[in-house]
Amino acid sequence: MSEQVQQGRVQAGRVDEMPEGYQGVVVVDGVGVLVVNHEGQFYALRNNCTHKDFPLLGGEVSMGRITCEKHGAKFELATGKPKTLPAVKPVRLYKTEIEDGVVYVLPL
Ligand code: FES
Repeated sequence: MSEQVQQGRVQAGRVDEMPEGYQGVVVVDGVGVLVVNHEGQFYALRNNCTHKDFPLLGGEVSMGRITCEKHGAKFELATGKPKTLPAVKPVRLYKTEIEDGVVYVLPL
């Protein structure tokens, strides 16, 4: 039997090519998902701010939070929860997995 491909799982890249501070976007089930390496941990969340849909890619990351560049909302990378206004709804979170040096993103 051939190896079964896990549904919805997408390769984000090689761990050694995604250093601290890395940000990139992959498409999972038709949705753009931001992948971030922050302090040695990979996080994945939908690349859309829940305030006005602005892409989160490129936002400043510090203390486990990413800042939307449009109006400054901050979201917790580990949970997707908004930590400052004007966003009040959480960003959809995805799961990351590392296998054989490759980072994968999949729906939670
Ligand atoms: S669009 Fe992100 S804070 Fe307004």
